[in-house]
Amino acid sequence: MSDRGRPTLLLVGGGGGLIGRSALVEFAEHYRVLSVHRHHVSSEVAGRVEWFPADLGGRIDWEPLVRDARVVLTLAWYRWESEPRFRGLRDGLLRLVAAAKKAQVPRFLHVSVPAAPAELEGTLPYLRYRREVDQAITDSGLSYRILRPTMLFGPGDRLLGVLLRLIERYGRLPMFGDGRYHVSPVAVEDLALALRLEATREGVGTADVGGPVRYRYHDLTDQLFAALGKRPRYVRLKPRSSARLAALLTAFGSQLLYPYEVHWLVSDLLGLPPYQGLDRPLQRLEPYLAEEIARIRASSR
Ligand SMILES: NC(=O)c1ccc[n+]([C@@H]2O[C@H](COP(=O)([O-])OP(=O)(O)OC[C@H]3O[C@@H](n4cnc5c(N)ncnc54)[C@H](OP(=O)(O)O)[C@@H]3O)[C@@H](O)[C@H]2O)c1
Repeated sequence: MSDRGRPTLLLVGGGGGLIGRSALVEFAEHYRVLSVHRHHVSSEVAGRVEWFPADLGGRIDWEPLVRDARVVLTLAWYRWESEPRFRGLRDGLLRLVAAAKKAQVPRFLHVSVPAAPAELEGTLPYLRYRREVDQAITDSGLSYRILRPTMLFGPGDRLLGVLLRLIERYGRLPMFGDGRYHVSPVAVEDLALALRLEATREGVGTADVGGPVRYRYHDLTDQLFAALGKRPRYVRLKPRSSARLAALLTAFGSQLLYPYEVHWLVSDLLGLPPYQGLDRPLQRLEPYLAEEIARIRASSR
């Protein structure tokens, strides 16, 4: 199908990211996609996405980019960066919101994160600056929807897939604290569908997005061992030692787990209720585990 006559999606934080890859699958059939981000992504080229290479922390003339956009979808954020880099990205996104408002973009979608412990919300640049972006969108007068997913699962995810690989390789996992806190993983494909459906809805507001099952973390990791056919074995760490381990790994350049992520996990704020806005049931975890394990084993042959 030609792009003529299709509405334009301005994708901010492109189709190479975890959510962006699934968002492209959802949107590309229905929208002409203009994608703003820094690094070349071959699947975007294959999908006929128009790439506008730019660092969002720099000065971008948003006016020509938002002018024709029917929908803006923002996905860009850093997991771990210096305070000035977070500040720069915040400023860039605030300029985008102002330009979208000026151009009266019909729909503005934004992916953020669920509530975190108060001490992190107040001090961590990762959260402090992103809440300023969330607030600017909320106050903008635009027709907006902010979705705040908990932990996502899907090919290339950063938690469950990583845990499976650690179990496969070392036969054990660290257990942070008593493991009695909760998580409700949600499929990245479900989030992408939620975003596409929200693109044509009119409701305004912020919604947390949890998956279909709320697990006790310890039960979830036991399930990962079982899926790999292994007996659960843990290196048990107190929460403070867990954060220290994450800090040490980070200091050595690892991107495995950051100290604030451990703090957030054990705070028991990530077991969000199931998202209600899809037109089909939310995906369960088990098929993903089977597929991911097949991928892990195929790549190690
Ligand atoms: N993954 C999760 O489990 C999860 C859960 C809840 C919420 N979220 C939130 O959802 C959003 C997307 O998450 P994700 O996991 O898909 O992230 P991701 O895989 O890291 O992708 C982020 C995207 O943003 C782009 N980007 C980052 N900084 C940029 C900059 N300065 N200028 C231009 N582009 C930039 C990156 O592309 P380039 O490198 O090409 O620039 C990349 O395509 C984030 O806000 C994240 O916090 C994620």
